[in-house]
Amino acid sequence: MGKKFRITAEVVDNRQMQPGIFSLVLRAPEIAAAARCGQFVSVYSGDTARLLPRPISICETDPEKGELRLVFRIAGRGTEEFSKLTAGESVDITGPLGNGFPVERAFNADGSLKRVFLIGGGIGIPPMVGAAEAIARQAMENTQPPADGTVASEVPSSSGKNTADNVTAMPAGGTADAPGGVTAVLGYRDAQLFLADEFPKSTKVVLATEDGSLGAKGNVLDAIRENDLHADVIFACGPTPMLRALKVYAESTGTECWLSLEEKMACGIGACLSCVCQSAEADGHSNVKNKRVCTEGPVFLSTDVVL
Ligand code: FES
Repeated sequence: MGKKFRITAEVVDNRQMQPGIFSLVLRAPEIAAAARCGQFVSVYSGDTARLLPRPISICETDPEKGELRLVFRIAGRGTEEFSKLTAGESVDITGPLGNGFPVERAFNADGSLKRVFLIGGGIGIPPMVGAAEAIARQAMENTQPPADGTVASEVPSSSGKNTADNVTAMPAGGTADAPGGVTAVLGYRDAQLFLADEFPKSTKVVLATEDGSLGAKGNVLDAIRENDLHADVIFACGPTPMLRALKVYAESTGTECWLSLEEKMACGIGACLSCVCQSAEADGHSNVKNKRVCTEGPVFLSTDVVL
């Protein structure tokens, strides 16, 4: 595991995106420089009666500004406290924690982009923004003309972000005969979207809403089927029922699939075992089928875990 830092971070900005959902920007240069997408931080309450930190996934980092963005839903008194933080205040955090998404798996050996699904459900959407940005950055790097003058594979421009207007109008990407590209499939309860318009422009955004008010009616798999989308590799974060369904889908279609699990955590550093999930194979030392989500995850290959 890489280096982690316990710091007192200054709040740069905190705003409500939708009822109960907040975007918190923190000045945390060490963590912003070290983090990879899919990792998380532990955020400590200022109330000493609540000693356990809350794990919150990293949405985006800006290493140049030394900033870290967390997007979270109020789910209890700890996150309610964080929702009230204002610019200039500070909060203690530890990170980056966990393994993060293996972004390199989005690319073929020649550096060209595979057909990639980034799938987010509800409050599992924030880390997929960071994953989209990391893949777009790597794709841009891979298309820099090599010194020998050969032509690298083409990827769409990733400059700028999607806008609210073009999200739902986006054509479905990742069709069976499509070349490589990134399709974000985002599942919401209803039309109260957040972050859908913050993916890089090179990412096609496809929506599902439980009430059918926008995009496909139903869940992310309904959106995939309705739009006849296909992928070579999947990265996903969201509630366990969604991940379970994606595991079945990926394994029945033979698709490589990386799942970021959301488990309750306490210590966040591998010491308390409150976050274990069941692994497909027994550990060589202990002979138990357990993995700690906080240190060995939160991202696992779908075939390595039992959900
Ligand atoms: Fe303590 Fe994972 S949260 S071991």
